[in-house]
Amino acid sequence: MTNLLIVGNAFTEEERGRLAGAHAAAFVSSPEDIAGMDTTLRTEVRAVAFKGHTPFGPEAMDALPNLGLIANFGVGYDAIDVDAASARSVAVTNTPDVLNDDVADLAVGMMLAFSRDMVRGHALTISGGWAQQSLPLNRKMSGGTVGIVGLGRIGREIADRLAAFKMDIHYFARSEKETPGWTYHSDVVSLAGAVDWLVIALVGGEETRNFVGAEALEALGSEGVVVNISRGTTVDEGALLDALEKRQLRGAALDVFLNEPDIDPRFRKLKNVHLQPHQGSGTVETRRAMAELQLANVTAFLEGKDLVTPVN
Ligand code: 8YV
Repeated sequence: MTNLLIVGNAFTEEERGRLAGAHAAAFVSSPEDIAGMDTTLRTEVRAVAFKGHTPFGPEAMDALPNLGLIANFGVGYDAIDVDAASARSVAVTNTPDVLNDDVADLAVGMMLAFSRDMVRGHALTISGGWAQQSLPLNRKMSGGTVGIVGLGRIGREIADRLAAFKMDIHYFARSEKETPGWTYHSDVVSLAGAVDWLVIALVGGEETRNFVGAEALEALGSEGVVVNISRGTTVDEGALLDALEKRQLRGAALDVFLNEPDIDPRFRKLKNVHLQPHQGSGTVETRRAMAELQLANVTAFLEGKDLVTPVN
């Protein structure tokens, strides 16, 4: 009996091998391919292990009549229609916490790379161009003022790191949190108006779509830098591109975009950005921990035990 369906061509061979080594499994590249699978196989499947950002909606769920679990590889599960899953008594799990450090490290790394123009500095050094031309003076990051949009588990890791850079920490969250003297803002425009760096660490999904909009970007102003390690949807990307093109912001450091990996070509012409290919959790150690947590959820479900990290 093939209990498990592995869905997503984002899985590495090692990740697929780990899942298939533990449970009898079939594989498809994307949720859209499920309906075209052999009917007997579709009936056998009880759990899905999913990785990727293509939508996993009700049609894919209905094509698996005995589905009881969608185990997501990733903390963000905005690609999965959780309401549709709940309506069908399908449990959803994710992989929280194990990636907090890596995503926070990348946020700080991008801030440093942006403020010290490290990509250009590397190019100048390696090309020998340094002999003719020195790197222009850059801007100081330590001691600046930063606003964290969303003080969840990842947002807090970022804030803790930036506190060590002697930065003045402001934050937006749904409610005020216990913090070591950080300044709470109940709305994102007020937060943006008070800081020079705006770091977006929100969950994705419809509730946070365009949460950082034109008004917040305007409040952030021409000395402001947007940092996003959450989802491309959490910022109004059109408004962000407009502001960057018109130099109404100092810049942006982004790991996430709309329509990844086919990002808006307007980004390619900008000089005031530092861009990364959605690699927040992309270390050997963390991807292994995520894979293990996903497998632990699949195994718990197939053995009738409590799920480790349920979402619904
Ligand atoms: C994913 C992510 O693991 O965890 C998340 O929410 O965005 C990433 O770290 C990666 O994109 C694979 O789906």
